Formats: sequence, C-alpha cells, structure tokens
Amino acid sequence: MERFSASVHFDQRLWRQDIRGSIAHARMLARQGILEKEEAERLIQGLEQVGRELEDGSLALDPALEDIHTNVEWRLAEIVGPLAGKLHTGRSRNDQVATDLLLWMREQVPLVRGALLELRQVLVDRAEREIDIILPGYTHLQRAQPVRLSHHWLAHYEALSRDDQRFHDAQRRMCFAPLGAGALAGSTLPLDREGVARELGFDAPSRNSLDSVAARDAALELLAALSILMIHLSRISEELVLWSSTEFGFIEMDEAFATGSSLMPQKKNPDVPELVRGKAGRVVGALVSLLVTLKGLPLSYNRDMQEDKEPLFDAVDTATSCLEILAAAVRTLRVNALAMGTAASDPMLLATDLAEHLVRQGLAFREAHQVVGRVVVHALEAGLPLSKLSRDTLRSFDPSLDIDPASFFSPERSLEARAMVGGPARETVEQALESARAELQATRAELR
Ligand code: ARG
Repeated sequence: MERFSASVHFDQRLWRQDIRGSIAHARMLARQGILEKEEAERLIQGLEQVGRELEDGSLALDPALEDIHTNVEWRLAEIVGPLAGKLHTGRSRNDQVATDLLLWMREQVPLVRGALLELRQVLVDRAEREIDIILPGYTHLQRAQPVRLSHHWLAHYEALSRDDQRFHDAQRRMCFAPLGAGALAGSTLPLDREGVARELGFDAPSRNSLDSVAARDAALELLAALSILMIHLSRISEELVLWSSTEFGFIEMDEAFATGSSLMPQKKNPDVPELVRGKAGRVVGALVSLLVTLKGLPLSYNRDMQEDKEPLFDAVDTATSCLEILAAAVRTLRVNALAMGTAASDPMLLATDLAEHLVRQGLAFREAHQVVGRVVVHALEAGLPLSKLSRDTLRSFDPSLDIDPASFFSPERSLEARAMVGGPARETVEQALESARAELQATRAELR
C-alpha cells in the first residue's frame, strides 16, 4: 500500500512551492494570533532549514510518508520538535497541494514562453534574411502558388504567437489562492486568506472552498495550450523532414542535429524534427490523461487527482526541450534557394494569375477559370510550359489573353501583384516583419 500510494518520487518537484506556502501560512497564523510570534519564527527557521537540506540533497525522502508535504512536515518535527504539529493548523494537504501546483505552474508558464520566444525570434530572423528566396506554397502537398520563404516562416510565427497568447491567457486564471479552503469546507479559525494569497503573489483567495480543492482546470488549460503548441511544432517538424528529403532538397539540417544510419553510410536523418513530431503525441497524451482522470470525479478532492502531476511535469519538460532544440535546429539549417526557386518557377503555378487577368478584362471568374483550364490542357498536351505558348495561341482561347507570356509568368511579378493585407509581396512581408519585431520586443519586456 505504501509503495502504491506514494507520490513523493514525483511531487518532490514541488518542494520549493511547498516550503514557500508553509512559510506564508505560518506568518499568517501568527498575524491572526493563532500562533505566538516566537512559535511562527521557529517554524519558519525550521522550514528554511528543510529547504536547505532539500536544496543540497542531504534530506532523504521517505516514500512511507507518501508525499512531499508530509515529508517536509516530518523533517520539520525532527528539527523544531512538537511545535511542528501547529503548522498544519487550519490547513489540509488538499488546499496545500492545490496551492503548490498553482505556484509551480505560475513559475513555469513564463519559462515556457521564454523558450517559445526564442523560436519565434529564430523564425523572424530567418524571415528577415530570406525575403528574396521564393518557393512554391502548397495545398494538398501539391505545388500551388509561389510565396516568399519569409512569408512561410512568418506563417509559423503567427501560429506560435497565438500559442504565446494562450499561455498568457491561461496564466490569468492561475491567480486565485486555494490556501485556507482546508480539506473542503474551510476552517472555524480566523484565517486571513487575503493576506496569505497576496504574500504568495496571487491576486486574491479562491472564491469557493469546494472548488478550490477540486479544481484542476488550470492544469488542463496549460496542458491544452502545450498540446496545441506541440501540434504546431510537429507541423513545422514534418515540413523540415519533407524539405530535407532528396525529393524536395529544399534544406539541409546541420550535422549537429542529424544522425547517420548505423547501416547505410550515405544516410543523414533529420532526427530532431522527427523526435519533436513524435513527442507531440506524448504531450497530447498528457492532456487526455488528466481529462480522463477528472471526468466523473464528484466534488471535491479525490485521491485520483494525485495522478495530475506526472503528465503535467512531463508535458512542460517535453515542450520546453522541443522548443529549445527546434530553435537551434531551425537557426542552423541551410536553405537551398536554387532548389526552392526552381520548384517555384513552373509557370503552371501562375495559372490563377492568368484567370485573374481575364477577370480584370471583365470576365466572370468561373468563366475565366474554364478558359484557363483549356489553356492548361493545351499546354500539357503540347508538352510546353505556359510561358512558351505564343501570344497568338493564348489569344485563340480568348481575345483578352493578350499578354507577353515571358514577363507575365515571372514568379516575382506574381508575388508583387499580391500586395493585399497578409499577402506575400515584398512590401506586405516587410510590414509583417515590422509588427513581428515589435511583438517580440513586447514579449521580451513582459517576461523580463
Ligand atoms: N499526495 C496528494 C496529491 O498529490 C496530496 C493530497 C492528499 N490528500 C489526502 N487527503 N490524502 O494529491
């Protein structure tokens, strides 16, 4: 039973938060006259000593004492004697663990955002340098229309910036302190919940004692934000895997982030993006695990909830390490601009431009689409790129197709014509870069 029930091997990670919470609690008990000032002083000094012993690893944690909370209190009793029994006045491990977990998450969110900031910065740095590189944009993994590589990097930047907002937003709901809710129904003692909440950096005490010990949706929300982030990292990774294949040949991963095959001497495998893609499953699994743990639990605390910590810790660690290594891998990869440019130079990618030319001449888009469809079939049958069809041939499909094919089918011309908001033209990309730089600076200032 002891082995089965113990959580100290993983919840020891909460020791700093546990000691901080206990010190704030002891101070509050003294302020309220529940403890003598001198008693609280001795408790606090004892707790600080336990903290030092945990810091330097000299305190052996006992699984028979179940969790970090009981281990700390037990060691405190060895140091200060029976007085330690007064620390738990007006408190339960239920409000204690809920407080510790919130304190921990409140510290972790800015760290995750910091790692995310570095990857966003890498994307913007590349976008700044690679504005002249053109590649095909894809739908259905089929070449569709040319875009600037900068525009592509900034597309991922957008998704990651929304992730950052999600973390920021989730943190806003981690600001109510459970401490004082007791086991589930508070205490008959005159606790000062406002004071203890403020001392621990929360905005206010939580509003309902049952909810305080039952709620884990802040952890769910963090896991959901981490899962969505990992899906984005996985999609970036999948592209890096594809792009580094011989079939695409768009990029080469730095040697530091690839491995050879133990069998095939010629192989260079994109291990980093593959592992990031793989680890996305783990983080989504953590979210599902906690969702299912909570589903069907009656109010308020239930022991099932001890299962919240391992997936949460693992998801935070996994996402942080993925962010760090992906930032380094993207920063150091080499782009094959020629391969990208060649892939983007197929005039077929500008068939839509041709249809839009006809729209400008007054044709309905559906009609224009059909005309260009016939031109495309003709070119394919003749084995010619669109740019090699003669002006007369083009005119034979519609008199309005009176264009100079050589200049019309230039990817650069097409890009510059797409200067609408959010488009891939140089000017719009430069504007997007400017906003991105300002956003990065704001996040950096906020996290400092
Ligand atoms: N180890 C427990 C957890 O992580 C702490 C709270 C235990 N409460 C209790 N009444 N047994 O959830």
